[in-house]
Amino acid sequence: MTTDAPLRYQSGFGNEFASEALPGALPVGRNSPQKAPYGLYAEQLSGTAFTAPRHANRRSWLYRIRPAAVHQPFEASTAGARWLNRFDEVATPPDPLRWDPLPMPDAKTPVDFVDGMVTMAGNAGCGIHVYAANRSMQDRFFYDADGELLIVPQQGRLVLATELGVLGVEPQEIAVIPRGVRFQVRLPDADQGAARGYVCENYGAHFKLPDLGVIGSNGLANPRDFLTPVAAYEDREGDFELLAKFQGKFWSARIDHSPLDVVAWHGSDAPYKYDLRRFNVTGFISHDHPDPSINLVLQAPSDTPGVDTIDFVVFAPRVLAMQDTFRPPWFHRNIASEFMGLVHGVYDAKAEGFVPGGASLHNCMTGHGPDAETFEKASAIDTTKPQYVTDTMAFMFETPAVIHPTRFALESPQRQRGYYKCWQGLAKHFNPNQR
Ligand SMILES: [Fe+2]
Repeated sequence: MTTDAPLRYQSGFGNEFASEALPGALPVGRNSPQKAPYGLYAEQLSGTAFTAPRHANRRSWLYRIRPAAVHQPFEASTAGARWLNRFDEVATPPDPLRWDPLPMPDAKTPVDFVDGMVTMAGNAGCGIHVYAANRSMQDRFFYDADGELLIVPQQGRLVLATELGVLGVEPQEIAVIPRGVRFQVRLPDADQGAARGYVCENYGAHFKLPDLGVIGSNGLANPRDFLTPVAAYEDREGDFELLAKFQGKFWSARIDHSPLDVVAWHGSDAPYKYDLRRFNVTGFISHDHPDPSINLVLQAPSDTPGVDTIDFVVFAPRVLAMQDTFRPPWFHRNIASEFMGLVHGVYDAKAEGFVPGGASLHNCMTGHGPDAETFEKASAIDTTKPQYVTDTMAFMFETPAVIHPTRFALESPQRQRGYYKCWQGLAKHFNPNQR
């Protein structure tokens, strides 16, 4: 199977997957036979410490035409010039922040996924980026040694051709590329316009599915809905670029063959995709508004039990049935910092200003909540009747560390400098004589 064949997937999350593009290419009974089938080289990809506990251990064995070591020396590159790792360029204001969608690249200027990446914010645990690209990566392959990439397309489909197979993702789906996996981003809709989306670059432990506790054995994101590609390879020689992101800098090496040459592989360190429309939303059905953790899709655990470096939370279509309840999130200040994006439709806790492709950032202890118009509406709604929230797909990258916007984000013309005004119309209703 080649990398442009119809896409096929294996189902499950973090499984010991196995796939071969040629019959019998996977060695049987051993990972590193003296001679691998078809004259392939065996290579291990370790995504966790060798001694990580079994449930958290991620590694894969790749059987490939040439080992990953076969390429020319790396030299510093000007690629990915706006894709940053440092978040101390400017002081972080405690204001609520919000942005309009970043503009798409001019059709006359070719921009691929790597060059179209702009860093909006980040901290020691993650980088938060937005990409806007109008052409496929051509003769260029990329890997990120700094972190795992959670890709959230907002407009336009992506084909992610990786060493371990090919993923097709569209808006309202997500994809995760493990640290170090080489891949190429192709834009099948480039002739219809540019592609845009969000990326969370996870510098820490792999994303995992949350435990379900009293919810039981089903619910939220179900493991069977996660799809990992089957093996697909290309045996292609030429003059190609291997681009690496390593320690926040970009490095370029010449490579005389496609690195997507893995004919068979098995293991648990592999890319995957998930359709957010399959998220099984759980919520309160008597009264009160639940914390956003109820909408947790994936979590990157920290060394502190119960605290994640990153929570990926989704606000999907759902029914709100809570009675005698202010149904949107009430006003709040959290120790957590919240970077939000909107993939599709309308976000129910804001009347206007937060549009698909836009973003907001509410940092540690920054007061925020529904705008004045949403407050009035939610205060007056008849809560004896259920409310159907349809046509929406918002998400949040939530972290325990403050999320520092970059200079680009703070100085961007897309920053809504009047965002604070959405709360200034909140009237004083207090009357000590009327309970
Ligand atoms: Fe919030």
